Amino acid sequence: MRTPLIAGNWKMYKTIGEATALVRDLLAGLGPLADREAIVCPPFTALAAVAPLVAGSQLGLGAQNLYPEAQGAFTGEVSPVMLADIGCRYVIVGHSERRQYFGESDAFVNRKLRAALAHGLRPIVCVGESKPQRDAGQAEPIVTAQVRAALVEVTPAQMADVVIAYEPIWAIGTGDTATPADAQAMHAAIRATLADLYGADIAATVRIQYGGSVKPDNIDELMAQPDIDGALVGGASLQAASFLRIINYQ
Ligand code: G3P
Repeated sequence: MRTPLIAGNWKMYKTIGEATALVRDLLAGLGPLADREAIVCPPFTALAAVAPLVAGSQLGLGAQNLYPEAQGAFTGEVSPVMLADIGCRYVIVGHSERRQYFGESDAFVNRKLRAALAHGLRPIVCVGESKPQRDAGQAEPIVTAQVRAALVEVTPAQMADVVIAYEPIWAIGTGDTATPADAQAMHAAIRATLADLYGADIAATVRIQYGGSVKPDNIDELMAQPDIDGALVGGASLQAASFLRIINYQ
């Protein structure tokens, strides 16, 4: 009942030429995707070049961030209207790098998520604990609190468009992935939180991705977990061969 979503978060990598080359390679290698969805999230500067290449293809398009206003005097920012206009269907909000380096609070992440929904974008909202928080046994309360804060004033109907990405901070870019069992336990806790907020039926429909050092050699085991509904992939989405292998998980 949940269509798994494999998303490539390219972060601050890829010039326009590199981005279009990667997308062409992905499209050339992609077989039919009957039971799963795949998207790429290039940097803002490459969106306009990538959009026409993926239009009408099996590969969807997302952005990595937005500012939660339709327009205005916000120098350097990009609005959800602009992202929808360029052809994005998804947008990542609340990535731990934005929380950490740009001081984004739970309340600001919630504003971004609601702005995305208001303009027809599907937010992929990232949550995750740090290593000290995990070591202190606080991972679950911290992550579930992030989920609750991100979803303030989000209606049950809107949850059809929300994707949650559990990304333990200590697993991002480190090669140190959560074990499938630990990831599954956190995904189940997130789903229980969704059930508490929206009821079990809606909770059962929300896609929860895992992110953090997802690679060709661990994707199959992760995707075999009952509450893992896809992956948000950083480093391994930057080369066609590795991202295709992840998209084609068993
Ligand atoms: O958003 C994806 C990400 O933070 C994970 O990055 O490089 O560990 O796959 P990576």
